[in-house]
Amino acid sequence: MPLNKILVIDDDKSIREMLELYLVEEGYRVCLADSGNAGVNAFIQEEPDLVILDIRLPDMDGFAVLEDLQEENERVKVIMITAFHDMETTIKAMKGGAFDYIHKPINIGELDVAIHKALSSLEIERKLKGILTEPSRQFKVGDIVGSSKEMQEIFKIIGIVSQNRATVLIQGESGTGKELIARVIHNNTDIQEPFIAINCSAIVETLLESELFGHEKGSFTGASGRKLGKFELGGCGTVFLDEIGEMSFGLQAKLLRVLQEQEFERVGGKDTVKMQARVIAATNRDLRSLVSEGKFREDLFYRLNIVSIRIPPLRERKKDIPLLTDVLLNKICRDLHKDSIQVTPEVMEEFFRYPWPGNVRELENLLVRAVVVAKSQVLLLSDFPSLFANTEIGRRHEQAPPEGSISCLDEQGKLLTLEGMEERYIRKVLAQGIKTKGEACDLLGITRPTLERKLEKLKIVFEKE
Ligand SMILES: Nc1ncnc2c1ncn2[C@@H]1O[C@H](COP(=O)(O)OP(=O)(O)OP(=O)(O)O)[C@@H](O)[C@H]1O
Ligand SMILES: [Mg+2]
Repeated sequence: MPLNKILVIDDDKSIREMLELYLVEEGYRVCLADSGNAGVNAFIQEEPDLVILDIRLPDMDGFAVLEDLQEENERVKVIMITAFHDMETTIKAMKGGAFDYIHKPINIGELDVAIHKALSSLEIERKLKGILTEPSRQFKVGDIVGSSKEMQEIFKIIGIVSQNRATVLIQGESGTGKELIARVIHNNTDIQEPFIAINCSAIVETLLESELFGHEKGSFTGASGRKLGKFELGGCGTVFLDEIGEMSFGLQAKLLRVLQEQEFERVGGKDTVKMQARVIAATNRDLRSLVSEGKFREDLFYRLNIVSIRIPPLRERKKDIPLLTDVLLNKICRDLHKDSIQVTPEVMEEFFRYPWPGNVRELENLLVRAVVVAKSQVLLLSDFPSLFANTEIGRRHEQAPPEGSISCLDEQGKLLTLEGMEERYIRKVLAQGIKTKGEACDLLGITRPTLERKLEKLKIVFEKE
């Protein structure tokens, strides 16, 4: 078998030389080009099996080169290289039909894996010639960010699944961006059809069933007319089943049937309705362990898990925090019509220390609150009191509570007990310039004997009648 030939298109001489040295050593034939035009010409003349393509080139951008290469050979295998780390570029590369996407500085191990994958898939394709359908090249973007390796991998999967209709299962803790990812997948498909979200834990089983499948007139008390369900309303779009782990066992069986047979009946109806929508399911539970506990159907789990996206919690990808903070702050300031605001390096340091149990949603909420009360263009540690409430820093930076409010922390900064809080509240009310005990009872919402008992216990002397 002849050696595989690889074309390297990069304007950076040192990268060309480094790759040539490495690839020849690995037993490939290599040809080089230093610009987009030269690359396309070399591609036509040399007919390489694989192209390694830089995105930033002097004469044309890598995406345009990719398109030209695809004009010549629609199944060309291209590994794109770039210094950019954003979702847009990655999804664009994957949707544009790039085989893989690698960042600078090039990690040889990573490149090696990509080359092997590309060449073996080329081999399979050659065997299956004529059977495969053409890849599409449309492109749209949402606004999900992440510079971590984990998020980069997720962007690649988004790029791939938006090209097909496979069922996707998104797993991740609360606030990690499950719904956002589902929407980005939907928005990146070329179909102009609805995205319909439904939370499987929010409503009772019978109602959920009719919400999903619809019902016919008179199918149950109160069903006054035919109602279309989400699977029907979703058309050829996406039905997002949030909190799928909470779905009842009975309904799980019905969902499995829909996914397998791509058709269903409305509740109380006989007509068969075709299911055209794509299903994306999400959960913050570990579905696999629900399966082993017997709480989730194994067959449904496998049916949903065709493509699985697991979003790591924010504390496991802290690298994303600066970029997320930046992007979220921009968005928040735009929404609130404020000039752009930044956080100080000390705040960023604390952000790195904090474990973020509420993930990106918590970060977003904290930033919104801080921006609302911010007095300058910079957010200080003191603008995030709740984040540091139980830390030394928090105590040092805690602002005086707004007038009229009662702090729930004692002098040492520890949370008060309910009883302690009650005492503070009673003293506060009595200090309001109250004239009679009756008035105090009204304000506190308690009876006279209760008030007397509490005053005695707290040794509060309140002489007014
Ligand atoms: N990578 C990201 N880039 C930008 N914004 C993000 C990202 N991840 C999450 N967010 C934002 O964080 C918030 C929470 O995201 P989302 O609602 O998608 O989370 P979720 O996993 O569905 O949470 P829950 O389990 O609580 O429903 C949203 O406002 C979303 O826009
Ligand atoms: Mg959600």
